[in-house]
Amino acid sequence: MYFFCFGFFSSAYRKFIVVLVGVIVILAAFYRVPGPWFDNHHQYLNGSDQYLRGSDQYLRDRVFSRVLGPKFDNHHQYLNGSDQYLRGSDQYLRGSDQYLRDRVLYDTDLSEYIHAYNYKLPSEYHTDASYKERKILLWYVPPRYVNSTPHLQPLTACPDRNCFTTTNTAYMKDAAAVLFNAQIMQIQKPMPRPKSQQIWILHDTEPEKPDWSHSVTFRTPPWWNLFNWTMFYREDSDIFASYGIVRRKLPSELYNRDLDAIVKAKPKKFVALISHCGTEGKRLEYIQLLQKHIQIDIYGGCGPLKWSRSDDKGFMHMVNSTYKFYLAFENSFCDDYISEKAYRYYKADFILVVRGGGNYTRHIPAGTFIDTRDFKTTKDLADHLRFLDTNHDAYMKMFRKKDLYTSETEALKTVHGNTVVWIHYQFESRALCEVCYRLNHLQKYSKTIERIDKWFDKRLCYFPDDLK
Ligand SMILES: *[C@@H]1O[C@H](CO)[C@@H](O)[C@H](O)[C@H]1NC(C)=O
Ligand SMILES: *[C@@H]1O[C@H](CO)[C@@H](O)[C@H](O)[C@H]1NC(C)=O
Ligand SMILES: *[C@@H]1O[C@H](CO)[C@@H](O)[C@H](O)[C@H]1NC(C)=O
Ligand SMILES: *[C@@H]1O[C@H](CO)[C@@H](O)[C@H](O)[C@H]1NC(C)=O
Ligand SMILES: *[C@@H]1O[C@H](CO)[C@@H](O)[C@H](O)[C@H]1NC(C)=O
Repeated sequence: MYFFCFGFFSSAYRKFIVVLVGVIVILAAFYRVPGPWFDNHHQYLNGSDQYLRGSDQYLRDRVFSRVLGPKFDNHHQYLNGSDQYLRGSDQYLRGSDQYLRDRVLYDTDLSEYIHAYNYKLPSEYHTDASYKERKILLWYVPPRYVNSTPHLQPLTACPDRNCFTTTNTAYMKDAAAVLFNAQIMQIQKPMPRPKSQQIWILHDTEPEKPDWSHSVTFRTPPWWNLFNWTMFYREDSDIFASYGIVRRKLPSELYNRDLDAIVKAKPKKFVALISHCGTEGKRLEYIQLLQKHIQIDIYGGCGPLKWSRSDDKGFMHMVNSTYKFYLAFENSFCDDYISEKAYRYYKADFILVVRGGGNYTRHIPAGTFIDTRDFKTTKDLADHLRFLDTNHDAYMKMFRKKDLYTSETEALKTVHGNTVVWIHYQFESRALCEVCYRLNHLQKYSKTIERIDKWFDKRLCYFPDDLK
């Protein structure tokens, strides 16, 4: 009490208070709502037009502080990058899961995903361990095509810039999301979840098959009530992760090519690559029925024609210049399942003939491919193929339309250390960006999957009934 009275009435202390209040008032004037970027308003305003134009929906759906985030104290760089960032975010909203469920992907402008920003991330993204907005996506059980990446690798193609992937399990306790590839997963007993907010994701681009000896693992009760999201080729997944996408070509990709000459130069007609002979989809049996009517060259383990398996590129090149039709038949018929067979070959210069359980017209523009499902018998299909082969105009109509589109599939590139090298594969471009978006808006995506086994059993693979 004595000290308090003494302090309060001392004139030195009064002066101190007056000065302190003055300083606070002056500081407050500087740190008004517009905040620390205000001293650089010219740049801010110069960039703001873009920002406002894109902002309406954008802001309503986003937490503002998150959007601006810690980049703000580095606003020069932020502004430098913001035009791209915002252009990307608009695309992103249009491209987010909700949007994709309602629309066909191939007519959605995905250019921002496809061509990663030519943007070098500020160094603090890599070095500042306390970087609060950072979201780590840990591939705890990575699929075969994800390279081992001990360091944090930024998801550079995502409109949300704060996500990083790694396969280094030392990041387990910091990871915002942990991804398990279902096909490869052999962990019998789940590890503890280091923090309650960590999201566990079960992923695959392949259907669950009886020959996955370990597929029982994640079906067992220890794994119930643990996964938050599914990320599969199935359209009822939380995050849709397909083998690839078909998309419109960008203006820069529409070369003025002599398509007539390309087609006329092709010496052969029908080709298939079959490496697994006895499949549930009875692919070989179907082709044998077709062969009663048309001549089909069969490469791979089940055909008379051989090509080195390691020379994937050479095979594509040969087929591209030689054949008019490529038979991309799936091993198995499963709801929604369209494998890399269709996506990889779609971008080459021939017409695909597809056969499988997927809804092809949902992912590939009608009139640019042929679906065996549209024909009652193999003879009907053969008749139609022969018609297209001999009727140049009819073939060219499909071929020209197809030439407006292309496809993206996995294309692996390694990222070294802190150097941002663009990974150019679908899993960054779409599905992982969606994971990143969700992690930044976790409150909207709160979920636990009670019975993962039941989820699997909801949509199954089946035997085809078209062998006639
Ligand atoms: C505004 O920004 C653009 C692009 O960043 C630049 O080309 C232009 O010179 C800037 N204008 C002013 C007035 O600073
Ligand atoms: C803006 O970013 C680009 C790409 O990272 C860089 O080349 C350029 O020098 C930056 N400009 C300024 C003014 O910082
Ligand atoms: C197919 O061949 C054409 C030339 O005839 C070429 O322009 C195109 O890039 C090739 N496509 C692929 C996927 O190899
Ligand atoms: C396939 O996709 C198309 C286009 O999205 C849709 O109209 C159609 O209902 C789908 N068919 C099935 C069987 O789901
Ligand atoms: C994820 O699942 C776990 C385990 O059931 C649960 O505790 C957690 O709340 C879930 N997270 C979200 C964001 O839904």
